[in-house]
Amino acid sequence: MLYFNYKGILFPTISSSVKILNYLENEFQILDDDIVTVTYPKSGTNWMLEILGLIQHDGDPSWVRSLPVWDRSPWIETEDGLKKALADSPPRRLSSHLQFQIFPKSFLNSKAKIIYVMRNPKDVLVSHYHFSKSFKGFQDPGTIEEFLETFLKGDVPFGSWFDHVRGWMELKDRPNFFFFTYEELLHNPRDSVKKLGQIFGKTLNSQQIDSVVENASFHKMKDNKMSNFSQVPDKYFDHNTGNFMRKGVSGDWKNHLTVAQSEYFDRVYQEKMQHVNVTFQWD
Ligand code: A3P
Repeated sequence: MLYFNYKGILFPTISSSVKILNYLENEFQILDDDIVTVTYPKSGTNWMLEILGLIQHDGDPSWVRSLPVWDRSPWIETEDGLKKALADSPPRRLSSHLQFQIFPKSFLNSKAKIIYVMRNPKDVLVSHYHFSKSFKGFQDPGTIEEFLETFLKGDVPFGSWFDHVRGWMELKDRPNFFFFTYEELLHNPRDSVKKLGQIFGKTLNSQQIDSVVENASFHKMKDNKMSNFSQVPDKYFDHNTGNFMRKGVSGDWKNHLTVAQSEYFDRVYQEKMQHVNVTFQWD
């Protein structure tokens, strides 16, 4: 079985289990000085982690080029990531794709910071579609038409994009919750880096900001073997059919969805997002 179900949400068996998710939700301790990057998959997680790693080191790329991204900021819902997170000493950098309703309860009594990254869901769908063809922990997506249905129903690992965003955006007024979009990182990287620096309590000078932006650019990350997933063993990722650093653009959905499919997506989007009181770049 490729997936298992935890509270109505699918998870890849390859990296997680009910036992892990139950432990995370009820027992794992989020600490006050943790910074947790939370995303729906394919929203720019690794890009944010690269930016944060560079900010932490004042724009010096040596650290992000010497340690795999999953060791820099372990994924708490994976078996290896959880072990690493438990062994790391504070201040920890953690990552998660968990929806808010099953995120560690201990977060609610902590001052830990959440950096939540979102992306135009049509581009998430396309990125997910390609990734699923090569990542052996995800089901073959079938045709784009078929995957559109699967995605809109939320029958994908980590569940529905709509539930994910709706759940986390309920925290939007909390002082320790910060949200960013893939599109703002793309179109306004310097401002995003400055904002992130402030969250870290760091004031970077102009050259350091330039260095963060440059070293976290698509082409630099594509060449960084610690970030481009080339180190992921073949048993998990078919490197012949796919590339984790695929395109790195916004609007690629226009090359994949027909007008009718896009309009269908919009109808579902409007219905599901009608009570979310935030206007996103893609609205
Ligand atoms: P595409 O498949 O559209 O190219 P995640 O890290 O959440 O899995 O997201 C992966 C997506 O982010 C991929 O999108 C990948 O190319 C893109 N990405 C990664 N690093 C990036 C960067 N530096 N600039 C722009 N996009 C980037």
